[in-house]
Amino acid sequence: MSSYRISLIRGDGIGPEVVGACENVLLHASSLAGVSLKIVEVEAGDGCLEKRGEALPQVSIDIITGSDACLKGPVGRSAASVIVRLRQELELYANVRPARCLPGVPALDRAADFVIVRENTEDLYRGMEMEFDGGVLAFRPITKRASERIARFAFNMSSSRSLGKRVVCVHKNNVLKKSDGLFLSSFYGVAQDFPGIAADDMLVDSAAMNIVRKPSQFDVIVTTNLYGDILSDEAAQVVGGLGLAPSANIGERYAIFEPVHGSAPDIAGTGRANPTATMLTAAMMLEWLASTRGDGACWKAANLMRGGVDAALSSGARTRDLGGNMSTADFAADVIGKIT
Ligand code: NAI
Ligand code: MG
Repeated sequence: MSSYRISLIRGDGIGPEVVGACENVLLHASSLAGVSLKIVEVEAGDGCLEKRGEALPQVSIDIITGSDACLKGPVGRSAASVIVRLRQELELYANVRPARCLPGVPALDRAADFVIVRENTEDLYRGMEMEFDGGVLAFRPITKRASERIARFAFNMSSSRSLGKRVVCVHKNNVLKKSDGLFLSSFYGVAQDFPGIAADDMLVDSAAMNIVRKPSQFDVIVTTNLYGDILSDEAAQVVGGLGLAPSANIGERYAIFEPVHGSAPDIAGTGRANPTATMLTAAMMLEWLASTRGDGACWKAANLMRGGVDAALSSGARTRDLGGNMSTADFAADVIGKIT
């Protein structure tokens, strides 16, 4: 039986609810598939800041880097000190955010099936802001190295997918001539190495409109950090909502998997949160373990998880965000019942 150490951040707000629900499904599917997971708890976020005086203690980083993969729930106001920091320090340079329709869940366009690949280490997220003459200056680093690295990741992602074979670079180079200009020219440079994949580009405002107008035209979108953050919430809504949207932060050595959504303080503690996004996130983690470790049992576990979620949704199981009345825990129990 293959065995992995999974570091687990429960997070803030709805984090502990959706992570707890997901954990039960993850352990059930994994054990059926012959994968043994050792869960190691990691403290991080607003709760940790209150308790320990820091949102991301060094010991937490050490546990994450000492594990095979990290599953993370959303954190609250301390998100910049936790996940933005982890993305930069661990060089988790690719943020992968798939938008795929699920059985029976209303979507703007059922033919939509695309992935946003967001550069995860640069841009305004470096937090380089300073007081300036009664105002504020914000720096936006964009390098050729990181732009080429994320472009290559996006083309490889497109070649691994059965659909489309098209990568669209989203930018604003008509205004941000130097920074987005470099991102775009790096993209077209890398495109030369992938002659079988169509390379195209689109201004970010136009992309925001086209994701709503005709999402089925997209296969892989590659973009800078801030645009990717904004467009991925939009993409989530196109295929059914934030409660369904998974994501992965991938680097050469480490990877952290988390739902796209935040800590949802408006519904925290009510049992109304949809754990589907976190379950699909855990399935992405198993797939990453499968491909990086060449472990077929992890593929099996991922397929069991996805199959369970699909079967529950097909049979009409719904949390409140999707118009149903199931609690977070009831939905998870339904999914587990479908995994046999
Ligand atoms: P949010 O994503 O937490 O919530 C937006 C809306 O979607 C809310 O109405 C919420 O109830 C709903 N929603 C989100 N997830 C849901 C789920 N699983 N099931 C049902 N409904 C769901 O975004 P918001 O309110 O802008 O941010 C709240 C906090 O989350 C902030 O403090 C922010 O810093 C943090 N955040 C953390 C992230 C992370 O840890 N990676 C990512 C995004 C936000
Ligand atoms: Mg976001």
